[in-house]
Amino acid sequence: MAGYEAGFRDLTAEVRDRDLPVEGTVPAWLDGSLYRNGPARWTVGDAEADHWFDGLAHLTTFRFDDGAVRYTNRFPRTEAYRAAVEDGSFAGQFSSTDGYLSRVKSLLDGDATDNANVHVARIGGELVALTETPNWLRIDPETLESKGTLDYADELTAHHVTAHLRRDPESGAHWGYFTKFGRRNVYVLFRIPEGTTRRERVGSVRVEKPAYMHSFALTPEHAVLVEPPLVTRPAKFLLPGAGGFIDNYDWEPDRGTRFLIFRRDSGELVRETTVPAFFTFHTANAFERERDGTTELVVDLVAYDDDSAVTDLSMGALRGGNSGFPSGELRRYRLPLDGEEATHEQLADEVEMPRFSPEVHTREYEHAFAQSTEMDGGNALVRVDVSEEGSERGIARRWEEPGVYSGEPIFVPHPDGGAEADGVVLSLCLDAEAERSLLVVLDGDLTELARAPLPHAVPFGFHGEYFPDG
Ligand code: CO
Repeated sequence: MAGYEAGFRDLTAEVRDRDLPVEGTVPAWLDGSLYRNGPARWTVGDAEADHWFDGLAHLTTFRFDDGAVRYTNRFPRTEAYRAAVEDGSFAGQFSSTDGYLSRVKSLLDGDATDNANVHVARIGGELVALTETPNWLRIDPETLESKGTLDYADELTAHHVTAHLRRDPESGAHWGYFTKFGRRNVYVLFRIPEGTTRRERVGSVRVEKPAYMHSFALTPEHAVLVEPPLVTRPAKFLLPGAGGFIDNYDWEPDRGTRFLIFRRDSGELVRETTVPAFFTFHTANAFERERDGTTELVVDLVAYDDDSAVTDLSMGALRGGNSGFPSGELRRYRLPLDGEEATHEQLADEVEMPRFSPEVHTREYEHAFAQSTEMDGGNALVRVDVSEEGSERGIARRWEEPGVYSGEPIFVPHPDGGAEADGVVLSLCLDAEAERSLLVVLDGDLTELARAPLPHAVPFGFHGEYFPDG
């Protein structure tokens, strides 16, 4: 059986407004667009990106209209794209061997890569492609072409930024954090009010050795940074020949993993608590509640024992079939604010890319959706039932097909839905044997409703969002 190496093969084809054949029935209420982002090309001539995360940004969109699905894909013509295609250079990115100049330039001079290949959001009324530098791209929602980098209506200096913004369901503001390196290193929590491109500084904390952090958690009153002990000493950036961005980080498990809890209204760091070391890319949902007379924050996330989830993803290893997908444990951390110890429990094993209904963000919830990596020769999608009220917790529903590698499951609630699972799950999957991708539409119980084959194989990507029309 063809393996997952097909998901790391370069894509070069681009199509525009292609009507996809649909098998089954896409619900007619689905009236909007799914946008997805991810790296899709690692080789240009003799030049090759070293790390999966360094491939050229590639956007896809699927427009749903009365049961039909229309597909467009595009490599935005960024500076990074031009440098790769014209100069054969993949410099200045997540992990590269290009060394000293590109690294110092990219991190400290604010001239970082514009290869925005991680996520998408709607900021200031525009579709934006996000990455972990401040160079986010304004994207034409029809053609997926870049309209240049986003201009921030503020004066903040940021070096390493989360690409996982959290949208506050009450105000519509996007929340995030960045790291600013310098003589004094700080994590800065910020919010972008709806309709603006203005990052407002909410709170900050100084750190001696900044960590590599990928996402965070938001509750109604608090924001939680999860700081694994994958840390750097920024002076190391100035040492010649020290490698790419992530190569400058060391795993120091004795430090443990620290939760930094900020109040959202005052920006005050109200509690920090350290637990035995784990690494994480992705938080799922988070919420807060009163327990035994104190406020307890609940943060669900995918945890790994160590940093190999980052270091095992070199293109050489992935293309050679020597390495697998990272596969973590969905955990629930309980963080009491009164100083009691943090505790955790396992909700599911061998999962990644956790998502949930946007309608339950920051609230106690019932269902998380995730990719499951436990099967050989394919990736399943699973629904993890997380409610503490329910009798059945853990993996409750599953969709899988041999030879099919599913992508991140994006849940779209039914506009007039009642139950939390009333909606559809959209996932861009790779049919490894047929060497082409499939957009799969499942219901909230992970029963397949429809699939739409693409004219080509889209390599494994990262994240996306669905935006309803109007
Ligand atoms: Co991510």
